[in-house]
Amino acid sequence: MRVIPINDAAIEETAIEEAAEILRRGGLVAFPTETVYGLGANALDASAVARIFAAKGRPSYNPLIVHVPNEAAARELVSDWPESASRLARAFWPGPLTLVLPKQPAIPDIVTAGLDSVALRVPAHPVALALLRATRLPLAAPSANRSMALSPTTAQHVARSLGDRVELILDAGPTTVGIESTVVDLRGPQPSILRPGLLGAREIEPVVGTLATPNETTGDAARPAPGMLDRHYAPRAQLRLFAASEAASIAREGAALVARGARVAALVLEASASAPVEVVQMPADPARYAQRLYATLHDLDESGFNVVLVERVPDGDAWAGVRDRLERASRP
Ligand code: TXA
Ligand code: MG
Repeated sequence: MRVIPINDAAIEETAIEEAAEILRRGGLVAFPTETVYGLGANALDASAVARIFAAKGRPSYNPLIVHVPNEAAARELVSDWPESASRLARAFWPGPLTLVLPKQPAIPDIVTAGLDSVALRVPAHPVALALLRATRLPLAAPSANRSMALSPTTAQHVARSLGDRVELILDAGPTTVGIESTVVDLRGPQPSILRPGLLGAREIEPVVGTLATPNETTGDAARPAPGMLDRHYAPRAQLRLFAASEAASIAREGAALVARGARVAALVLEASASAPVEVVQMPADPARYAQRLYATLHDLDESGFNVVLVERVPDGDAWAGVRDRLERASRP
């Protein structure tokens, strides 16, 4: 595995060309997006995409997101492009939004886990966009980490998780959004959010009208997005959630765990915790919390903490993405 530093401001053409060459011959390249780093392969080449599943140890039932440089490229990969897709693309692309639409046969089944729909996104990162333009290929790219583990927000996270399973990593520094894109299903009569992210109902509803809650639409939307039931986005340390009102429990639980020899950290917003627990004060703003979340958990893992006690984040739409990742990470 090689890591090439790449400066956003002046994207080095030789690095992009080298990455594009690897992708054209069916190899894997990790690249930055504004959300998390992606593990990219040519989405039209089934054997290249099979390498993504192998490198991640990802179950074959979990479909991948396909990245394209613009709306026109997205339209070529779907069999229907509803007005809602045009509106959302205009409002949020490039950006942390993924649209699920009926797929064209050109997209191999392995990409979509056999579904007749495909998830598409135009990432808002100059390096990702430069790579998409250079390859002239749609790039299937899940988060560039081993399956079930924490998503990477830096090139170092990618290198640590995947090692030589990836040929090249383009290193543009830490990502800005910090959690994965919002996934919106546009197949039913009413759009619905399959995976919350930085963009929530508050941003999306003004553009396409009221969203369906997933189990209010047609029968088949009653199940969540494939692969979303698993424990996910999880650090190696055990993560436990506490209500904000349970500050005392965080302190008590922390002290008891430490007494038994565990190394314990607490991620807090308002609760006051103190030694012997390592206290990490998280930002009170949801976007800044999201940006810091995975990096903080990666750091705690690297420092050898066994347990992370997390103060629950507030209810409400603005926190939906962060809340979702914390819930998933705390699943046993
Ligand atoms: O921000 C992101 O979305 C990052 C960056 C790299 O773009 N990518 C990412 O990919 O998070 P991944 O593979 O870790 O998550 C893809 C998720 C799947 O687990 C599934 O929930 C949903 O997207 N998905 C993909 N294809 C789908 C489909 N056809 N129908 C419904 N959900 C789909
Ligand atoms: Mg992932």
